[in-house]
Amino acid sequence: MGFVVAIDGPAGTGKGTVTKIIAKDLGLVDIDTGAMYRCVSLEALRRNIEPVESDELLKMLDEIKIQLKKKEGKQEVWLNGENVSEKIRTLEVDDVVAKFAALKMVRDKMTPLQRRMGESENIIMEGRDIGTTVFPDANVKIYLDASVEERARRRYKQDIENGMEVSFEEILKAIKQRHKLETEREIAPLRKAEDAILVDSTNLTIEEVVAEIEKIIREKIK
Ligand code: DC
Repeated sequence: MGFVVAIDGPAGTGKGTVTKIIAKDLGLVDIDTGAMYRCVSLEALRRNIEPVESDELLKMLDEIKIQLKKKEGKQEVWLNGENVSEKIRTLEVDDVVAKFAALKMVRDKMTPLQRRMGESENIIMEGRDIGTTVFPDANVKIYLDASVEERARRRYKQDIENGMEVSFEEILKAIKQRHKLETEREIAPLRKAEDAILVDSTNLTIEEVVAEIEKIIREKIK
């Protein structure tokens, strides 16, 4: 196995952004496992498959091919030979992804794929269950957190900047709901691994979070 950095935590903590920066700074391959659950959801939506365990869903899981590629420093997500990097970020996918990600059938397929990705390279993998389930023996485990209000504020700012008409209350409610789904599901729920280091980004800038995590990683590499 290569060197593995596991980064877990809820949405809105800056996890995706800091993972990409750290990967570049330290020469690690960054892997966004949320993108894989998003691919499953997109394909299921296209095939009109409901987010419940079924023969249809199992067949679909056997048929899909997910690839995470690097192009000119940017990560691209490919599903069955199609670049779906943007299509997996729509509201339709947002609405169902937590439901698909809660299914045993889906996780049983994704977890081994993720483990294989860490076999031969030095990686930084972000998700919800990387330090607890996918790589319980990761070299470095970080749990990146932030208050629910701050996470909602960040999402609100992002949506407004993208020209969306949203209310802060709506977003706060959605974030709370999603948090409940992710932390209370039966299989691989979002939680801090006992040996993970907690980094709270509520009052930190992206640069400060990056610096703190890189310091932790460098100490382990020594
Ligand atoms: O990080 P994200 O918002 O792109 O994740 C999409 C969904 O997938 C979200 O509902 C959490 C879920 N997920 C998961 O259950 N396990 C992971 N390792 C990564 C994401």
